[in-house]
Parts: sequence; structure tokens; C-alpha cells
Amino acid sequence: MDLEALKRLAAEKAVEAVEPGMVLGLGTGSTVYYALLKLGQNVRSGLDIIGIPTSIQTADIAQREGIKLSDLATYPELDLTIDGADEIDPDLNLIKGLGGALVREKITVEASNRLIIIADQTKVVPHLGSKSPLPVEVVQFGWEVTRNRLGQRCSRVVQRQNREAAYITDNGNYILDCYFERIDNPAQAEVEINNLPGVVENGLFINRAEQAIIATQNGIHIQC
Ligand code: 5RP
Repeated sequence: MDLEALKRLAAEKAVEAVEPGMVLGLGTGSTVYYALLKLGQNVRSGLDIIGIPTSIQTADIAQREGIKLSDLATYPELDLTIDGADEIDPDLNLIKGLGGALVREKITVEASNRLIIIADQTKVVPHLGSKSPLPVEVVQFGWEVTRNRLGQRCSRVVQRQNREAAYITDNGNYILDCYFERIDNPAQAEVEINNLPGVVENGLFINRAEQAIIATQNGIHIQC
């Protein structure tokens, strides 16, 4: 199976957990895309749910699929969120945000009673920081100062680009991708990085997921 087939497999398995009447956090990314397609199909067959999108991209796809959308002002407590991840460690801690939606994703997860992560096997790592940079969303004002402070904590910091220009998030901020060899104490790192002036949020999601549905060449593996 190719990577896209694996993503679809994980996504469609997660959608089996969606029950009528649920208010559902809708994550962002290429794996969540397949969950949105499946949800759209189920909605067209009569499933009644409300989705809370974590990005403009997800809102656009969900709308196209006919999924009813609302916001956290109307629904501050969600039944379930389905989202992707960039890295998953053995303790179910995550790096997220390569898709640029980490702030809205973290707020949505905070509002959610459950988080199911969907991924293909390439996202499983022995420790966080081994493959993916850690995305950190920062305000534009004085971002160079924030970058320098982040640089003291990791081996390299790169401002994310979108073609020739700086990448701008849905919240109007920059993203700094921080490269580590490994993040030894991710719970502490999450708090300490968020304490730096200029940081809006970082992509460490610690003790947030209830389970990860990981699609492998040998079938679905559920990590709890
Ligand atoms: C977006 C995210 C995504 O969930 C993460 O990047 C995984 O994306 P994909 O399924 O495309 O690999 O955190 O901010």
C-alpha cells in the first residue's frame, strides 16, 4: 500500500468512532483530509454532526463536503477531535504543526473530551525530535529576538517560508521550525518554550491523545 492508502485507512478507521449528534474537532493536514471525505460521505447518508475546523483549509474542505460547521464560542466543549501528527512517541506524546495549524489545533484539543490521532507508520518515532522539527508559532513583532532565544535551546531554527515569502499562519503569525536531535523532557520543553516572550504556542502535544490509529503495511495498529 502506498502512503496515501495508509492515510486513508487510518482516517476511515477513526471516523468509525463518530456518533450521531457529536460536536467534532476537525484537525488539519493530508491525513485528516481523508477523514473529512469519509465524514462528508456519512453526512450525505444522514449522519448529523457539527464540525469545528482547526484551519481555514479544513473549513473549506469540510464545507465542500457538506459538513455543518460551527465555532468554539458556540460549542466550547467538544465530544471528540480527530487530527494528524508529525511525530508520535511511545508515550503517545506528539509533535504537530508541520501543517501550520498548531495553535488552533491545541485550543481545539483543550476543548475536546477525546483526541484520536490518525497517522501512517512513518510518524512513529522512538523519541520526539528525531525526524521532524518542532514548529513554534511566534508573533511578528521582534521575532528575531524570539528566534535567538529558541536557538539557545535547539541546534537550528528556521523561519518557515511559503515560496519566496515568510509563511503566515491563519492567526497572522510566523512559524519558526526548531531542529533538535531529541527532545529529552517534552513536558518541560512545552512549558519552557511557551514561556519565551513572543511565543504564541509550540507543537508539543503532551498527554493529550487518547489513542493513535496508525496504519502500517500489516494493517491498523492502535496505540493507547
Ligand atoms: C497541522 C498538523 C498536522 O496534523 C500534521 O502536520 C500532520 O499532517 P499530515 O497528515 O499532512 O502528515 O499538525 O498543523
